[in-house]
Amino acid sequence: MIVQVLVEKTISLDDLAARAAATFANQFGRPARFVTAAPGRVNLIGEHTDYNGGFVLPMAIDRYTVVAADLAAKGKVARILSCTVDEQVEIPLRKGKADALPVWTSYIRGVLDAYDGEGIRPVPFDGVIDSTVPLGGGLSSSAALEVAMATLIEAMSGSQVTPVRKALLCQQAEHEGAGVPCGIMDQFSSVLCQAGHLMLLDCRNQQTKMVPLADPNYTVLIINSNVKHELTGGEYAERRQQCEAAAAALGVESLRDATTQTLEQHQSRMESILYRRARHVIGEIHRTTCAAEAIGTARWEEVGRLMFASHASLRDDYEVSCAELDILVDLAERLGSERGVIGSRMTGGGFGGCTVSLVQTSAAQEMAEAICGAYQKETGIEATAFSTPPAHGAKILLPQATARN
Ligand code: GLA
Repeated sequence: MIVQVLVEKTISLDDLAARAAATFANQFGRPARFVTAAPGRVNLIGEHTDYNGGFVLPMAIDRYTVVAADLAAKGKVARILSCTVDEQVEIPLRKGKADALPVWTSYIRGVLDAYDGEGIRPVPFDGVIDSTVPLGGGLSSSAALEVAMATLIEAMSGSQVTPVRKALLCQQAEHEGAGVPCGIMDQFSSVLCQAGHLMLLDCRNQQTKMVPLADPNYTVLIINSNVKHELTGGEYAERRQQCEAAAAALGVESLRDATTQTLEQHQSRMESILYRRARHVIGEIHRTTCAAEAIGTARWEEVGRLMFASHASLRDDYEVSCAELDILVDLAERLGSERGVIGSRMTGGGFGGCTVSLVQTSAAQEMAEAICGAYQKETGIEATAFSTPPAHGAKILLPQATARN
């Protein structure tokens, strides 16, 4: 088991669930009969490859979004209090957009609609949402909310879809409810990840392979730059279009089907920007499978090299990093293996958010402090760091499963 080195303090899942249940009882005057939880995720490597049919290598983090709820006797709404934004809303259960409601409700609306389309009709309920996933930090707070809500709908209705279908319905919720054209990594991670493992996901055929990450000498350290540049939505969609254009220029269905050789042959006939976008994706898909293999055989130095190479490619070819993320990765690289750093890179969509580093457990605390201290000196911004073991995907905490046999 990877030791947990905490720089930023948070509460455990049990405490978070108890807090949400207590808030529910307080707010709605009866106990919560259902409590569900879904984790955020961090991607070790394989960035901006999911919507190109490539590979990703994420793990669930020990940070969760929890929903405590109960069915309502009557009414045509879901009454939901979000403790994260301290706001209570009534979401109409009939299908369609409710424009007057705050943006965070669109994820919930999206999930209700997606399950409705699946024949699992929404019923009136009251709920409280609480979370330890940092918002807007690139750790999939929105997927955690969607998946926690999907898990609640399944718990309340007693009807389940397969885990893959559940992840796809949550992705649909993000596309249609929130209007973000994301790939499948975040929702798959929040549903399917297993404790103690990274998940190598082939985004083309949606097959998963669990890669154990359980050596107590190594720890995953997440450092939040605490910056979020406002460009993300449009830039993300633009990258997707550029990848499609690059695939068309190369005569393949998706960049997963392209090789470095094909790319080099076409370079002179391609717009330079499309060439660079494709070079990132093709290289990153290869790096991801290599990293999964290297982790499987404990070739840590190689994993580290691949992570740094991934960051350089995201910064230079894919152009989704930002000054603050570059500083964090640079600081980690300068500390180097002598100070316990194996590898480091930006993680998630980019333009702010977090870096993920693989570090030696014995050095993690000191390293996090050194990096955060130097980062603050250079940028004036306070970064927050925490380590996390690979956690488990979404679960129903209440009602408790009855023991079999
Ligand atoms: C966001 C999206 C994911 C993925 C990453 C980049 O997190 O939601 O689908 O594309 O960006 O790897």
